[in-house]
Amino acid sequence: MKLSSLFITGSFLTSLTFGIPLYDLGKTLETTSYSPDETFLINEFSNQLTQIDQFNSTNSTKCEKCIKRLNLGKSIALTRPNLIYPIFTKWCIDNEILKDSTTCKLTYGRNTVHNASEGTNFANLLTLMDPNSYDGQLFCHYQQDKKCPLPKTPEIDMSSYWPEKQSKHFKAPEPSNETYNVLHISDFHIELDYQIGTEGNCTQNMCCTTHNDNKDIKPEGWSYTMNLTESQANNLSFTPAWYDSNGDLQYDEPIDVFSNDSIWQPASTWGQYKCDSPEVLINSSLKSIAKYQNKLGLDFKFSIFTGDLVDHDEDNHLNYEKNIKSEEIIFRDIKSTLKDIPVYPVLGNHDTFPYAQMAQEKSGFANLFNWNAELMGDLWEDYNWINSSTARYVRKHYSGFAVETSTNLKVIALNSNAYYASNLYNYWNATDIDSFGQFQFLIDELIESESKDQRVWIIAHIPFIQEALPIPAEVFQQILKRFSPYTIAGIFFGHTHEDQFNILYDGEVTNKTEDNAVNIAWISQAVTPLFQNNPSWRYYTIDSKTHSVMNSYNYYFKLNETWYEGSSEPNWEFEYSAREAYSNVVPNWPDSSPLNATFWHKVAHAIHESDEVAQTYNNYKRRFSPFVEQCIGTNDCDGSFCFLSSFTLKDYEACMKAFDEPKFQ
Ligand SMILES: *[C@@H]1O[C@H](CO)[C@@H](O)[C@H](O)[C@H]1NC(C)=O
Ligand SMILES: *[C@@H]1O[C@H](CO)[C@@H](O)[C@H](O)[C@H]1NC(C)=O
Ligand SMILES: *[C@@H]1O[C@H](CO)[C@@H](O)[C@H](O)[C@H]1NC(C)=O
Ligand SMILES: *[C@@H]1O[C@H](CO)[C@@H](O)[C@H](O)[C@H]1NC(C)=O
Ligand SMILES: *[C@@H]1O[C@H](CO)[C@@H](O)[C@H](O)[C@H]1NC(C)=O
Ligand SMILES: *[C@@H]1O[C@H](CO)[C@@H](O)[C@H](O)[C@H]1NC(C)=O
Ligand SMILES: *[C@@H]1O[C@H](CO)[C@@H](O)[C@H](O)[C@H]1NC(C)=O
Ligand SMILES: *[C@@H]1O[C@H](CO)[C@@H](O)[C@H](O)[C@H]1NC(C)=O
Ligand SMILES: *[C@@H]1O[C@H](CO)[C@@H](O)[C@H](O)[C@H]1NC(C)=O
Ligand SMILES: *[C@@H]1O[C@H](CO)[C@@H](O)[C@H](O)[C@H]1NC(C)=O
Ligand SMILES: *[C@@H]1O[C@H](CO)[C@@H](O)[C@H](O)[C@H]1NC(C)=O
Ligand SMILES: *[C@@H]1O[C@H](CO)[C@@H](O)[C@H](O)[C@H]1NC(C)=O
Repeated sequence: MKLSSLFITGSFLTSLTFGIPLYDLGKTLETTSYSPDETFLINEFSNQLTQIDQFNSTNSTKCEKCIKRLNLGKSIALTRPNLIYPIFTKWCIDNEILKDSTTCKLTYGRNTVHNASEGTNFANLLTLMDPNSYDGQLFCHYQQDKKCPLPKTPEIDMSSYWPEKQSKHFKAPEPSNETYNVLHISDFHIELDYQIGTEGNCTQNMCCTTHNDNKDIKPEGWSYTMNLTESQANNLSFTPAWYDSNGDLQYDEPIDVFSNDSIWQPASTWGQYKCDSPEVLINSSLKSIAKYQNKLGLDFKFSIFTGDLVDHDEDNHLNYEKNIKSEEIIFRDIKSTLKDIPVYPVLGNHDTFPYAQMAQEKSGFANLFNWNAELMGDLWEDYNWINSSTARYVRKHYSGFAVETSTNLKVIALNSNAYYASNLYNYWNATDIDSFGQFQFLIDELIESESKDQRVWIIAHIPFIQEALPIPAEVFQQILKRFSPYTIAGIFFGHTHEDQFNILYDGEVTNKTEDNAVNIAWISQAVTPLFQNNPSWRYYTIDSKTHSVMNSYNYYFKLNETWYEGSSEPNWEFEYSAREAYSNVVPNWPDSSPLNATFWHKVAHAIHESDEVAQTYNNYKRRFSPFVEQCIGTNDCDGSFCFLSSFTLKDYEACMKAFDEPKFQ
């Protein structure tokens, strides 16, 4: 039977479904027995997919086969979208396309409020995308294991979007000599399933839960306590603790974690380096902020939060309710601890459901995701962080917004899933430079601020050097270059969990001269200890007139020390301030000068040229955790000048090529 006849005249098409699939309706693989007709189609089409792989193998490239599968998928999705899940799942399992059948189900299975599968969004994408265009090439590159080479990024010239840059726009305004303080927090990642005594050294994604363990057998005689000193062994932290409504620490009965002989490293009260944050750790960090604010008289004018509330649990342990609960708990904890400090948040790639997905308004699928922006608009307005007109904007624009702070700075908040490679909707009409309308909004706000000499901060979760798609990365970079350094006073990201920075240069990608350094993105460290870092937060002193960053101050605690302190509160301490930490490598940097791109250009060079400075940077990057890479006399260290001096992945790769740099971060 020929496929085309099935689609056009086949008697199987009793009901054509063009509607939008809604969560929690319809069928999952497990619960459904398909009708004979459906079963026939599922077998027929999954065989067709298999044949694309098997036959014609000598004549088609991997890329061509990938595109063919998308074309076949599209023709099915346009008529029988609900069959995409069983067809692609069957194909995936039969041909062992992915690691195991669970991964196949999570990738192609139907999404419901209980199942964090991506199949619904894949089916939606198929109805939208043109597999034979840039869309298909891009999808097969990023989403199908580089089956296609990265398609050439079209030339983009954004200059018609704004008035020409005037000569005064090539220079940042001079700071005054007054400052105010701003808090920057990022990447809380609450682990709702965190349980003391479970495996903190598991062999899966998310340790410290009852659903994960260590698959390796412990060697004879191995025990967690064997290398501890006597006082450490007598003082282990396995007592559940929480803060009551007065902010006082309360304890439950200690847990006997050693009765389970299979555990390598039991999860303890305050956290583990392979786990996300138990709620008590999040509250401890917030309490330490309040404490230092008081003690040092910091009087934060506002706070920025650069995203990620939900944990890194495997997809089959995530669901819609857990997502909402994580978001609500953390914002509630922030509000109850920071009280009247306005918080300007963005959502991260984890703060949506399913993971990383978000559809454009014009795609017709936005209603699958609007609950999130609506919830954020409601919460942030309730907490008095934004007013009702800003909240209205948040609800309708993917949780993005622009606000004027009490210090007359404009903060523009963007949702980075609009450019993230893991969001399937970004493969629809991917040459559209602004399918979410977010860049036009950013440009309009920047033009308005520039016209009244107002300065602007931009906050978003994912740095463009990370998994940002090439077209939005290029668009964003052109916007930044146009409005730097005169209007854009700061760019702030999270996401990497590491304390890092990226310098933006104007001019040719490889012409990274001091004169060309026009802006810098501050990438914040995280509160979550995952991946092998100490929990940390920071604040900035900000020039009152220009809103340039004059200094940064980081605070942290040594997580490993809390394991031997009888569950008493972590000892949050001052870690470093950037101006002092790098004063010997940027000598004579005037007190009156901001820590701007010129300063960080000098720091990046020093990190690149000296193992000692690279060690300093790496210590801070992981906040002195036991997993800091050793730089002196080794090659393991992250001293990548290219990472620090690039703003997009394309720049980074060009830099690596031009400088023949062996160190990869
Ligand atoms: C394989 O190639 C032949 C000849 O080009 C073509 O007729 C056939 O449809 C292809 N099969 C698939 C599954 O693409
Ligand atoms: C594969 O390519 C060769 C040489 O171009 C051609 O002779 C042959 O018919 C092709 N086979 C298929 C199945 O398309
Ligand atoms: C979907 O979720 C239900 C309820 O949690 C579960 O029983 C089922 O196995 C899940 N199905 C898939 C395909 O993950
Ligand atoms: C700096 O501060 C001092 C004392 O507060 C003040 O007298 C002086 O005018 C200020 N200078 C500038 C340039 O604002
Ligand atoms: C001991 O821990 C393993 C995971 O490492 C878990 O599967 C098992 O259920 C635990 N046993 C008990 C009695 O809690
Ligand atoms: C104890 O120390 C020895 C020697 O350094 C090491 O091989 C072993 O892995 C350690 N055991 C534990 C439980 O940390
Ligand atoms: C964690 O488990 C691995 C085996 O999966 C083992 O090699 C390693 O030493 C363990 N580390 C700790 C700290 O328990
Ligand atoms: C795709 O993008 C182009 C360029 O922005 C736009 O003109 C076109 O309308 C878009 N197509 C769809 C289907 O939205
Ligand atoms: C590099 O940038 C400088 C300005 O800093 C400029 O004078 C020079 O022409 C540029 N060189 C190249 C090769 O683009
Ligand atoms: C950074 O500040 C220094 C000293 O005030 C100034 O010379 C330089 O032009 C500034 N760099 C940028 C990119 O604004
Ligand atoms: C246990 O840890 C606490 C907190 O660090 C400390 O005050 C106490 O002395 C320790 N006890 C022992 C027996 O080491
Ligand atoms: C914690 O880790 C740091 C960094 O490796 C180390 O210097 C310190 O001794 C450790 N503390 C304990 C109590 O193990």
